[in-house]
Amino acid sequence: MSQYLTGNGFLPTTDEVRQLVRELHHGNDVLNDEEIDTAIGLEITTVEENLIFIDLVLCYGQHRLYQGDIPYNLIRELYTRLGVFIRLSNFRITHILDIGSGYGRPVLYGALLWPDIHFCGIEMVLERVLEAQKVSKIRGLNSVEFISGDATQIPWPFADCFFLMNSFSLSVLPKVLSRLESLSKSQDFIVVSIFSSNDYLSQCCWLKEIVLSDFLNEKLTIKIFQTLSSTSETS
Ligand SMILES: C[S@@+](CC[C@H](N)C(=O)[O-])C[C@H]1O[C@@H](n2cnc3c(N)ncnc32)[C@H](O)[C@@H]1O
Repeated sequence: MSQYLTGNGFLPTTDEVRQLVRELHHGNDVLNDEEIDTAIGLEITTVEENLIFIDLVLCYGQHRLYQGDIPYNLIRELYTRLGVFIRLSNFRITHILDIGSGYGRPVLYGALLWPDIHFCGIEMVLERVLEAQKVSKIRGLNSVEFISGDATQIPWPFADCFFLMNSFSLSVLPKVLSRLESLSKSQDFIVVSIFSSNDYLSQCCWLKEIVLSDFLNEKLTIKIFQTLSSTSETS
C-alpha cells in the first residue's frame, strides 16, 4: 500500500496530493512510481492488464505503442529544469502540450505543481486517455485536458511548450517534427525532449538547444529547445 494513502487506506484529498507533489518536488528522495501513482489515483496496472499489445497494433498501426511510462524521478528533473529556464528567460509558458502522453504522469504532476498553467495530453490508446481523464476529474484539475487520437493527424490545441517524452517511433517522429517546424513559422515555443528525440531535435535548424549552466548536458536525458526567433531575446 502507498505510504501516501491516509491511515484508513483512502486516497488523499487533492490539496493533500498537491502538497505531497510540492514536497517531493523540492526534496531529494528517490521517488517510488507506484506509490505516487496510487496517491494521485492512477491505476495503470489494472488498465494495462486488459490491453493486448497485438490488438493495439492492429487497431492503431505501427506506432510506439508500448506503455513505457516516464519515471517520476525524471519528471521531477524535467520540471526543475523547466522552472530554471522560466526563471532565467523572458519566455512565458502558459500552455503545455504533451504529445503521446500515455497515462499522463508528466501532465498530472505538472498540473498539481503549477496550477496556473494549462496542460493538455494527446494519446493514441483510448484506455490510457480514459484513465488519465478519470484522474483529472476525481482530482478536479480544471487546467488539464486529455485528448484521444493520433498526434500526427489530429489538430493540436494552442501550446507554447511541447513535451516529446519518448512517444514516437523513429518512422513517425519526422511527421511530428514537420508539424512543429510549420508551427514555428507563426509562433515561438519551446520543446522539452528526452531520449531518442534529442538527437533529432538538435539537428533541426529552426530550433536552438537551451543549455542551463547548472545542469549536466547529458546526451540521453532531458533537453530543452527553443524556436530560433525567440532565442535571441532569452539566451
Ligand atoms: C513509450 S510510451 C511513453 C508515454 C509517455 N510519454 C510517458 O513518458 O509517460 C509511448 C506512448 O505514446 C503513444 N503514442 C505513440 N504514437 C502516438 C501517436 N502517433 N499519437 C498519439 N500517441 C502516440 C503510445 O500509445 C504510448 O502510450
